Amino acid sequence: MQRQVGSVRDVRYQTGWCYHNQLNGLRTNSPHVLPEPDSLPPGVDPDRVREQELTRAGFIPSADHATAYLYRAHSGPSWVRDGIQAVPPEEVAPFWITGRVRPPVPQACMPRKYHRAPDDRGHAIRNLRTLFYNPDVSIGVTSCTEPMPYFLRNADGDDLFFVHEGEGVLETEFGPLGLEQGYYVWVPRGTLYRIVPDSSPLFLFHLENYGEKFQKPDTGFTGDAALYYHRNVEVPTACYDLSAGEYEVIVKQGGGFTSYRFDHHPCDVIGWDGDLAPFRLNIREFKPITSWRAHIPPSAYCTFFGYGFEICSFVPRPAEHAERSLPVPFDHINQDRDEVIFYSEGVFFSKDSSMSGSLTFHARGFSHGPHERALQRAMARRDQEGAFMLEGYFLLVETNQPLSITAWAETLEDKDYLNSWQSTP
Ligand SMILES: [Fe+2]
Repeated sequence: MQRQVGSVRDVRYQTGWCYHNQLNGLRTNSPHVLPEPDSLPPGVDPDRVREQELTRAGFIPSADHATAYLYRAHSGPSWVRDGIQAVPPEEVAPFWITGRVRPPVPQACMPRKYHRAPDDRGHAIRNLRTLFYNPDVSIGVTSCTEPMPYFLRNADGDDLFFVHEGEGVLETEFGPLGLEQGYYVWVPRGTLYRIVPDSSPLFLFHLENYGEKFQKPDTGFTGDAALYYHRNVEVPTACYDLSAGEYEVIVKQGGGFTSYRFDHHPCDVIGWDGDLAPFRLNIREFKPITSWRAHIPPSAYCTFFGYGFEICSFVPRPAEHAERSLPVPFDHINQDRDEVIFYSEGVFFSKDSSMSGSLTFHARGFSHGPHERALQRAMARRDQEGAFMLEGYFLLVETNQPLSITAWAETLEDKDYLNSWQSTP
């Protein structure tokens, strides 16, 4: 299949959170009014152009309401061959667990660690592996060496990817977004997308969100520019393909998969606008609020929140360094939240070694804190150096509802993790 762009270096963006205009020269002054024929690009038949709304929250104005208006070159796919067929999940994504339809499994109240998943050959959806799930969110990883041979339309949830290693392009019907190390890339549910690696392997953290669309936390007195600014949010520019031929689209719904066959390229959107679009954000643009005297809790690092969970970004920051201050997290019992950390780059401030690509799961109700060696290391630096930096990039997901652990995750578990707090300085 022809790529939307030659490589990640060729992707162009617009910036901002809310209303976007990628009408791409189409002249239509209102939704539900078709573009004027003489504003259509060459090769587009005016009689076949249609508007399509991609919307959520059932058109009802609410915090979750958002709509994209897509202007398509084709009035609708003509089903060819067998048209539409259910496909067994084990053929499409055998390790992708849809938390919203999967009964929960009680977990032991204990901390767990999972080794970095092995790199897989093949494409990103076939290799997507869920480790944790609840009715609000599924959390996992994927890696790939090949482009997806079809476009996916996930009707179950929004897909959030975080690029841990490698690079590539996430093609969508809105246009392409670059997959570069350290970027969050958000795909609203229902958006056609395809992951194309430029380097092998491309290793991604994945989160599927079943509730409201992600929001930036309210930064209150600190203002709109706090944490990150809308200028840091990058949105695709329109990119379409008018090719005829047979193309497959797979729709995910209720944890099942359905194959559609199109008689034209499915990314035939010649222009679009609205307040719903995929976006990406570089974790390096996250600017944490810090204190030199008292440890700031993880909630201050919230980057996105959805219904029932938050995603926090731990990035390089000056450590707390006033006399007797704690430069690493305090011991805590997170009484009503589960915690998953994905370790991307560097030595985590509460640990004593690099855990790149691995994850930990700390169940609610379990008392935990920094490893003794990490605590001693940080206190020694505070005493010797005064102000010092904590380095590295890490993701934290906190969930309201208990997470279940998948059978596949158990194959990666480091059973000695529980004993790692017993080590002496
Ligand atoms: Fe914790």
